[in-house]
Amino acid sequence: MALSRLKINHVRNLQQVSLEDLQQVNVLFGRNGSGKTSVLESIHLLGMARSFRGSSIKSVIAHQEADCTVFGMVTHPSLSSAAAGAGLPLGVQRNRAGEVQIKVSGKTVRTVARLAEHFPLQVITADSFDLLTGSPGARRQYLDWGVFHVEHRFFYQWQRFQKCIKQRNKLLRRGKIADRELAVWTRDLTESGKAITAYRKAYFEVLTPRFSAIMARLAPSLTALELRFRQGWDKQLSYEAALQSSAAADLEQGYTHVGPQRADIRVMYNGHPAAETLSRGQQKLVVCGLKLAQGQLMSEVGKGTCTYLIDDLPSELDQQHSQLVCALLASMEAQVFITCVQRQDIESVWPETKELAMFHVEHGAVQRYSQL
Ligand SMILES: Nc1ncnc2c1ncn2[C@@H]1O[C@H](COP(=O)(O)OP(=O)(O)O)[C@@H](O)[C@H]1O
Ligand SMILES: [Mg+2]
Repeated sequence: MALSRLKINHVRNLQQVSLEDLQQVNVLFGRNGSGKTSVLESIHLLGMARSFRGSSIKSVIAHQEADCTVFGMVTHPSLSSAAAGAGLPLGVQRNRAGEVQIKVSGKTVRTVARLAEHFPLQVITADSFDLLTGSPGARRQYLDWGVFHVEHRFFYQWQRFQKCIKQRNKLLRRGKIADRELAVWTRDLTESGKAITAYRKAYFEVLTPRFSAIMARLAPSLTALELRFRQGWDKQLSYEAALQSSAAADLEQGYTHVGPQRADIRVMYNGHPAAETLSRGQQKLVVCGLKLAQGQLMSEVGKGTCTYLIDDLPSELDQQHSQLVCALLASMEAQVFITCVQRQDIESVWPETKELAMFHVEHGAVQRYSQL
C-alpha cells in the first residue's frame, strides 16, 4: 500500500496543502518550523486517525479552526491492477470535541482498525527512540502492529480480550462476586488470551531472524543482541493455571494480574537489558532495526508494503548510520516520507540508484522541487 495523493486541511500550520503524484521515496525539506513534521503528522492522521506524538488532537488542529481533515488515495494490492491505478480513497476528520469521522472508499467505518488495515504505517521520530527505555505498553503496541498486519484473525481476539479484561476487572473491583459470574469472564479471558499469545509468539518467531539480519548490517559489532518475548505470565504455567494461582491476589487487589496485558519484548545485550547497557546511539540503531524488520517481514509474507514516516533522520544518526538505514529502506520497496532541513542532507545518504521526489516546505506551503 502506498499513498499516491494527499490533501491536508487545517493540520497545525498547514491550512490547505495538496500533494499529487507521490512516489516511493518522498523527501520533505525546509527550515525549522516550516511544516515538515506536520506533513508526516497528516499522513499519520490518515492511517491512524490520531497524532503520532501521542499528543491530544487539539494540538494537531490548526489554531482558530474547529476541525482538521486529511484525504488520501492509497493503492491497494487486492484491487485489480486497473482499479489499483485509481486507488482506494481514505478520509479522516477530527474536531476539537475529539470526535472522529473515518471514511474508506466513501463509506463511514467505525473502528480505526478498519482504516489502519489499508494503510500500514511505521514511524521513526525522535520519540520512537524511547522504545527500549519506555513502558512495556509501547513495546506491546510495536509487537501488535506486526501481528495485526500479518494475521487478520488477531484483531477479533484482541478486541474480545479487551472486553473480557475490562469486565473481569470491574467485577473484581466491585468485590462480593458470585463464583459463577467471575468464571464466565475468566473462561472467555483465557480463550482470547491464549489466542492472542499464540499469534504474538508465532509472529515473534519470524520477526527475530529478520531483526538479527538487519542488525548485522546496521551494527555488526552488536553481535550479542537478543530479543526475548515475555507472554505476561510464568512460562511454566498454562494461562488457566496462572490465573488460578493469582486468583486470590486478583480478588484482593481488584484487578487481573497475569495475562497478555502484561506481555513485553525485552531487548538484551550480553544477557543485560539493552536499555541499561547500550549507548543512546546504539539504542537508536536497535529501534531502527526493530522497525525495519517489521516492514521487511510484512512485504515478505505478501501482506503488502508499509509506509515509513521518518522525521529528521540526519539529526538523529551519524552519516554512516543514516546511509545504512536508507540503504535498507531502499532495498525494501516500502514507501518512504522523510524530512530534513537541506535537501542535500538526504541526497548525501540515500543510495544513488533510487530516484527521490523532492518537496520544499516553506511557511506551511509545500511545493514539488525540481532541479530542472
Ligand atoms: N495547532 C497549530 N496551529 C497552527 N500552527 C501550529 C500548530 N501547532 C504547531 N504549529 C506551528 O507549525 C509550524 C510547523 O511545525 P513543524 O511541522 O513541527 O515544523 P518543522 O517540522 O518543519 O520544523 C511551527 O511553526 C509551529 O509553531
Ligand atoms: Mg520537524
